[in-house]
This record gives sequence, C-alpha cells and structure tokens, in this order.
Amino acid sequence: MSTARAYPNIALIKYWGKADEELMLPAAGSLSLTLDTFATTTTVTLVPEADDDSLELNGAEATPEQVRRVTRLLDIVREWSGSTAHARVVTRNEAPTGAGLASSASGFAALATAAADAYGLDLSARDLSRLARRGSGSATRSIFPGLAMWHAGDDESSCAEDVSGPDFRMIIVFVDESHKSVTSREAMRRTAATSPFHSAWVESTAQSLDLALQACADDDFTRLGQLTESNALRMHAVIQSAEPPIRYLTARSIAVFDAVERLREDGLEAYATADAGPNVVVISRPADADAVAERLGDLGRVAVVGPGPGAALISEE
Ligand code: DP6
Repeated sequence: MSTARAYPNIALIKYWGKADEELMLPAAGSLSLTLDTFATTTTVTLVPEADDDSLELNGAEATPEQVRRVTRLLDIVREWSGSTAHARVVTRNEAPTGAGLASSASGFAALATAAADAYGLDLSARDLSRLARRGSGSATRSIFPGLAMWHAGDDESSCAEDVSGPDFRMIIVFVDESHKSVTSREAMRRTAATSPFHSAWVESTAQSLDLALQACADDDFTRLGQLTESNALRMHAVIQSAEPPIRYLTARSIAVFDAVERLREDGLEAYATADAGPNVVVISRPADADAVAERLGDLGRVAVVGPGPGAALISEE
C-alpha cells in the first residue's frame, strides 16, 4: 500500500491540443507553476484476488468512466512492472473538482507516484512525469515543484523538468465554482478538428514558450506576466473559434481581466490567466499579492497561493 500527495498546477504558457492522443503528446510545450494548495492524496493498494481495479473518489465510488481512466494508467504500470495484480485506489481532492482548477493534474501525478511505488517500481522524477502524462497532459508538470516546463517531444519520452525563474504568487478568483460543461479533453479535440486558427495557436504557443523561458532565465516578472496574459487570451480565442463554439469565460471572468488592467494602470503589477473554466488566476509579485487579492475580493472568493512541492510519497497516517 503506497500513498502519494501532489498539487495542481496553473499554466502560464498553456497546453491546448494533442499531437498524439494515444501517447498523450502535446501539440506544443507548456510552462506552469505547481501550487502549494489544493492537494490530491491518493493511496494505491494491490488486491491480487480482485478481478478489476476499483476507485473511491472523495469518499464515494467513482463512475465507470473514471475507473477506466485509472485502469488505463495502471495498465502501463503493470506493463512496466510485470505484475498482473489489480488495485484499489482511494483518492481525495482538496480543490473544487471540475471548476477549471485541473484536479486531473494533481490526481494523475499522485496516482502515478503512488502506483509506481505500490507495484515496486523505483522511477526517477522524469519517468514519473512520463507516466503521469499518460493519465492527463497537465499532470506531466505536477510531478515537479514550482515552475515546470513540459517539453513537447515527439515520442514516448515526452516529460517535464524544473525551471528556475522569478518568485511570484497566484491569486485565484473563484467567480463560479460549479462543474464545467465541456471537459478540456473534449474541447481540445473539437478545437483541433474545427478551429481555422488551431495551427496558428500551436505555432504562437511554441514561440511564447521560448520567450517565457528567456523571461524566467532573466528573472523578468513583467515579461513573464505579459506573455502569460496574452497566451491565455489566445487560448480562449482559439477555443471560442471551435465549431460548435465553446466559451469558458463568463462576464464575471472578463470583469476580472478588466480589473487587472485597472490595477496595472494604478501601478499594481498583475496579469491574468484562466484555464478551461470561468475562474481567473492573477499573478503578482509576492509583496503585492495581498493588495491584489483585496482589490479583486469584490469579484469572487479569492485564494492566494504560491509555489508548491512536487509529487511525493507520504507515510501512511
Ligand atoms: C487549460 O491536462 O486536463 O488547463 O490531457 O486531456 O487530460 P488532458 O487535458 P488537461 O488539460 C489542461 C488544459 C489547461 C491548460 C494547461 O494546464 O496547460
């Protein structure tokens, strides 16, 4: 029995589109911050006598589709370890599931870490990142602490790595905590299949990633923030251009982007981004985070979070 804890990440340069859905290779690389809040804790216990894997999610038995996604990852672990045993997986998320906070990132990073150990594999962080990738693309990055870049790669070796860069905080503005309508997996597929702008998005993301890595190397928060906000708006633009269209940002999300622009006019440096949901994440220098949170507090519940640890085994409680 092995237990691991992993944290979600929020991308500054977004992963949106796959080059290979079977191997889960992204169309372009991405860059994110692993958070210090909203952990997922997962325990994997081998049950050799069981006919199937089973999954408990937040205290309830999971749906057959959720179990299938877990089994697909465990099948890879079984192949790597030579074991045929099924497993019982018990997992708990501290984040609101499905509200665009990518609990699949922390979920599959924790599952990969706990499952590898339960099946007796001793994997490097890069190999755990490769394994987590097969569960959910964004999980590739949650294996690593703080800033992490996921190399697009063009084969099975595609994984993330640590990056050093400026220190900053994220102010999450929860404008709507309900379950999102179209999953990111489905929306990514639809964008790639129908948007006339998809290839431009992929190309511009690869360029923005290079520039963002340079900004990290230069310890340049301002440049990193500017690139983050434009990349997020470009991602939402390409998503909205799918057929039928998908809109994740609501009027309340746009109000946060407007408010962030006003903060900058007032000399408080902040930049906004949003994932596949209506909630907006604002980045600021550490010293400005409380002031930014206070100014945005009228627009929704806010949480100030910082860089967090990579996925790790924890001792059973
Ligand atoms: C908008 O990693 O949830 O958060 O690979 O299909 O599981 P799958 O998708 P997922 O998509 C994350 C999309 C995003 C951007 C990002 O995290 O880079």
